[in-house]
Amino acid sequence: MSGDRQATTGVLDGPPVVRTVEGVRAAIAAWRHAGETVALIPTMGYLHDGHLALVARGRALCRRTVASLFVNPIQFGPTEDLECYPRDEAGDRAKLQAAGCDLLYAPGAGEMYPPGFATAVTVSGVTEGLCGAARPQMFGGVATVVTKLLLQTLPDVAVFGEKDYQQLLVIRRFVRDLDIPVRIEGAPTVREADGLALSSRNSYLTAAERAQAPALFRTLGWAADRLHQGAEAGPVLAEAVGRVLAAGFAKLDYLDFRDAGTLVPLDRACRPGRLLAAAWLGRARLIDNVPVSPENRSAA
Ligand code: PAF
Repeated sequence: MSGDRQATTGVLDGPPVVRTVEGVRAAIAAWRHAGETVALIPTMGYLHDGHLALVARGRALCRRTVASLFVNPIQFGPTEDLECYPRDEAGDRAKLQAAGCDLLYAPGAGEMYPPGFATAVTVSGVTEGLCGAARPQMFGGVATVVTKLLLQTLPDVAVFGEKDYQQLLVIRRFVRDLDIPVRIEGAPTVREADGLALSSRNSYLTAAERAQAPALFRTLGWAADRLHQGAEAGPVLAEAVGRVLAAGFAKLDYLDFRDAGTLVPLDRACRPGRLLAAAWLGRARLIDNVPVSPENRSAA
């Protein structure tokens, strides 16, 4: 797998990088010509072990993996962190090399959105509420760029993390609605030893905030236990919000219990559900979620 890479590029510090639609299509066409299957791992870079687990999942499912690195401007709101979003392409390449990824697709903004670009992919239903309410432009931007990435690369499989659970459901929705011939694979959230979900935005946390951050996951775990014991969601969610604020978070965008497939609100753990939260700690907006399934309900 790596012999042809070195012959092509002569570099050892990462997989080959292509920056154009034409380039990524040519590389993938060569793989297809050899009868190889392809997994796409879309990212915004500043890679951590969560991203590398997506690469590992892609490698388990397909012969070839291509990671994309594109900090997508249209999914950020005007007051959000686009300008300061962490970037380290050289470090990302080294990590992708170690993870066995075959190709990095890193287009510039002009390649992705050339002058005159005037199209948007809009998804209703599952985009409403939660992150869709707190970040109104986000899912339109995600749906548009992921549609483009899928059509540019036409992979067999595309792998996304469950940490962005609502995003995963949005992507599944438009892939189904638009008949895009790709399998969307969700991969479990990767966590630090103390439970904090890995995220590129964790780099915004000060040392003191980093020590407070695991309270979000801890509280979701506590709330999931209460729901498994048969408790009503309303009082559990109210107490969970209090616990997160008491742990030092400044505010929550939401902490809610939803149906795992449709994201409609649930009153109890009567069918597969998900507890989802977004909360602010200093400059960092942390999101996390945990499953709640009726099979885990203890006798009340
Ligand atoms: O989850 C992300 O990193 C981004 O939202 C994605 C899916 C790469 C689209 O820009």
